Amino acid sequence: THHFIVIGNPIAHSKSPEIHQVFAAQTGCDIRYERQYCPNNAESFTAVVEAFFHGGGMGANVTVPFKQVAYAACLARGGISEHASVAGAVNTLLLNKEKLQQGASLTDALYGDNTDGQGLVNHITSLGWQLEGARVAIIGAGGAARGAILPLIEAGIGQLTLANRTMSKATDLVSELSAASATIHQHDIKSCATTELTGQFDVIINATSIGLSGETLPLADDLNCHFAYDMMYGRELPFLQHFAARGAQTSDGYGMLIGQAALSFERWTGHVIDVAQATTILKKQSG
Ligand code: ATR
Repeated sequence: THHFIVIGNPIAHSKSPEIHQVFAAQTGCDIRYERQYCPNNAESFTAVVEAFFHGGGMGANVTVPFKQVAYAACLARGGISEHASVAGAVNTLLLNKEKLQQGASLTDALYGDNTDGQGLVNHITSLGWQLEGARVAIIGAGGAARGAILPLIEAGIGQLTLANRTMSKATDLVSELSAASATIHQHDIKSCATTELTGQFDVIINATSIGLSGETLPLADDLNCHFAYDMMYGRELPFLQHFAARGAQTSDGYGMLIGQAALSFERWTGHVIDVAQATTILKKQSG
């Protein structure tokens, strides 16, 4: 039995155990996947991670509020992937087997990856929305936006605009990421205030934390898109309702959740997940 956990605070609501059990059934793997509560400080996080891997754990997911803490832990001790490095956040922990074979300690072999942005790209692609050459706007300049930018550019998008309520945060994020990644540096990225985002886009992505709070984004009247994507999921997302009323196709971020989980499972076990089949089963299970 392979043992996995998802570490967060709060953690009771996490859907990861159910999602990974569906992957296990699909691939014939025998797994145990549990929710792991952790007090909200870096020392506790490191202690939880060390105890888990010392106990024979195979892989861990990291969720709010520990993704940046996990990034720092991996950077200091083991290693991180380019996606985790650019995102400044880790959602997937594993042990580097080569390092272990060379005699490294468990903590020094800790490796952090980030599958969130690629999960987003894979979900968007599976919807049949074309990213190649697409004019894309992302609204938001926090962790969710940061993690999406490199995977979207790697997927071949055209012009990218980053809009945020606080415009300086969008501008700063673009400069920071351009310095961190040559791929991002070479790309044409504009930044603006959310209210100044106007015109026609192929894809607009809501990467703000506004989601189900009931608040709405101050969107310009002449802002339009073919496809609107909200990284949040749940019923009645105002962002999606706004663009659906203007004739756009829409999607919430539930498929991104499954997509990032599938990539974590693949990193850990080497098994490739049929995400469409898993999604059908999970939707049936949740009624
Ligand atoms: P996350 O990790 O989910 O991205 P975050 O780092 O706290 O969370 O970032 C939240 C993002 O949502 C920011 O872009 C924030 O805009 P500001 O930078 O101007 O704060 C955006 N956001 C949150 N509440 C918002 C609101 N009511 N209206 C517009 N933008 C909002």
